[in-house]
Amino acid sequence: MKFKIVKDSNPIMKQKSLPVSLPLSAEDKEILDTMLDYIKKSQDEDYAKKHNIRAGIGMAAIQIGILKRMFVIYYEREDGIVQYQLVNPKIIEYSYRKCALKDGEGCLSVDGEHPGYAHRYYKIKMEAYDALTNQDIIITARGFDAIVLQHEYDHLDGLFFYDRIDAKRPDQVLMNEELI
Ligand code: NI
Repeated sequence: MKFKIVKDSNPIMKQKSLPVSLPLSAEDKEILDTMLDYIKKSQDEDYAKKHNIRAGIGMAAIQIGILKRMFVIYYEREDGIVQYQLVNPKIIEYSYRKCALKDGEGCLSVDGEHPGYAHRYYKIKMEAYDALTNQDIIITARGFDAIVLQHEYDHLDGLFFYDRIDAKRPDQVLMNEELI
């Protein structure tokens, strides 16, 4: 499956992605496998250099031009690998507490600089079908893990991380917010 990463200048990125029918079709599974494979490889320095690609930790289907509510995540944490192929995710709980990455967020579809704090919920619960483990799951995530999920989830609604930055006060930290 060949694809190109769609950039934020393309209006399709602002569209809302559509629910995916379950059980998952072989075609949709292939899309998820292709995306996960890409993200994994992007973290291999030699591979990334050779193919002139950036390292990413998540990708939504819309980023390869497919308007479907699904995304993949892959990154290493001290205690192991975090990986998902989430389909029709829903955020079912949000914390009052907020957080933001102190160095800002990045996105494979965004080449421009957008300094400032992208405000996120510190803790969320997300419900989805995970095509990697073939089951319905509920993920409870905090801090960085929660930010990654919210970033990818936003793509399904046509939003970018910079839409979470206050354009007038990009450096303002909220009262209930922790920088991580
Ligand atoms: Ni992104």
